[in-house]
Amino acid sequence: MYTDNQIFAAPMAGISDKPFRQMVREFAPNVPVVTEMISCHSLVGRHKNCLRNFDDYATEGNVGAQIFGARPDLMADAAQILVDAGAAWIDINMGCPVPKVATRSGAGAFLMRDHKLAGKIIKSVTGAVKIPVSVKTRLGWDADSMDWGDLVNVAADNGAAWVTLHGRTRAAGYAGVAVHPEIKDMPIPIIANGDLKTRTDVDEMRKLGYSGAMIGRAMLGRPWIFGEILGNVKSPENIGNIVLKHLDLMVKYYGAHAAVPMFRKHLAWYSAGIPNSANFRIKVNAINDISEMKDEILQFWGCVANI
Ligand SMILES: Cc1cc2nc3c(=O)[nH]c(=O)nc-3n(C[C@H](O)[C@H](O)[C@H](O)COP(=O)(O)O)c2cc1C
Repeated sequence: MYTDNQIFAAPMAGISDKPFRQMVREFAPNVPVVTEMISCHSLVGRHKNCLRNFDDYATEGNVGAQIFGARPDLMADAAQILVDAGAAWIDINMGCPVPKVATRSGAGAFLMRDHKLAGKIIKSVTGAVKIPVSVKTRLGWDADSMDWGDLVNVAADNGAAWVTLHGRTRAAGYAGVAVHPEIKDMPIPIIANGDLKTRTDVDEMRKLGYSGAMIGRAMLGRPWIFGEILGNVKSPENIGNIVLKHLDLMVKYYGAHAAVPMFRKHLAWYSAGIPNSANFRIKVNAINDISEMKDEILQFWGCVANI
């Protein structure tokens, strides 16, 4: 949960699952991590196919569980389920721009357009759980409605403990450069998010008045980045064994059949920028067998399996 000047690992759908969170913790054991966003409907319906909605967060420690939805009652019920699962705090998604979430369900970024409903949802969740509740949002719906400051006040008035601010609008999606407005006179701490990659970036946010920083895409293929920013870990020279460890965690969690295709995207991130990586990606994208995938990893990074 939040303490001053912390660095968070961002919630990322399809990425920040338990194996990825474990990789982050290999290099920075105390970094607070957030789950992928979880639909309040799938949680309350206890959809068993959403295996990762039912992780035991207590054993991991300091995991924020992120929920999305538009119904205050279901959001409260979902939050309670996550408390029982050991979440350290609940994060409410008020920034997801994906049409399925924001326009068709009236959740995620849509709540930047309906602060009244946003307030009701936050109040319902903060009233239902004893652990802290945070909100993750953006600058506004589009360039003409950058009213994030109003939403921060709504969040504070309804009991939220802090807000993470992604420095883009819903309309911008993930494109363009993130803008981080100076933080002045906000009632609760604001965590900066968007394009942050280095210690210098994080220090810059501090100067702007932010109480912490959240790293998203810069952690893809670089789960050690938190250790690097915190100054405890050097960028590893050969990452082959790190990649194998991640694959092994994925296999243990999802089973080999599901893990192998899921791991291809991680291999693309791990190998980005390395000579011959385009060929490597073509090869691994055609592989469905776990031993073949491991062999390709061993060959590409020239490492010896030690897992
Ligand atoms: C593939 C992908 C999945 C994401 N999933 C989520 C999510 O589940 N919940 C959320 O609040 N934000 C999600 N985000 C947004 C990130 O948490 C973060 O706010 C955004 O990427 C900006 O930070 P960055 O520039 O450091 O990546 C996602 C972003 C990407 C690219």
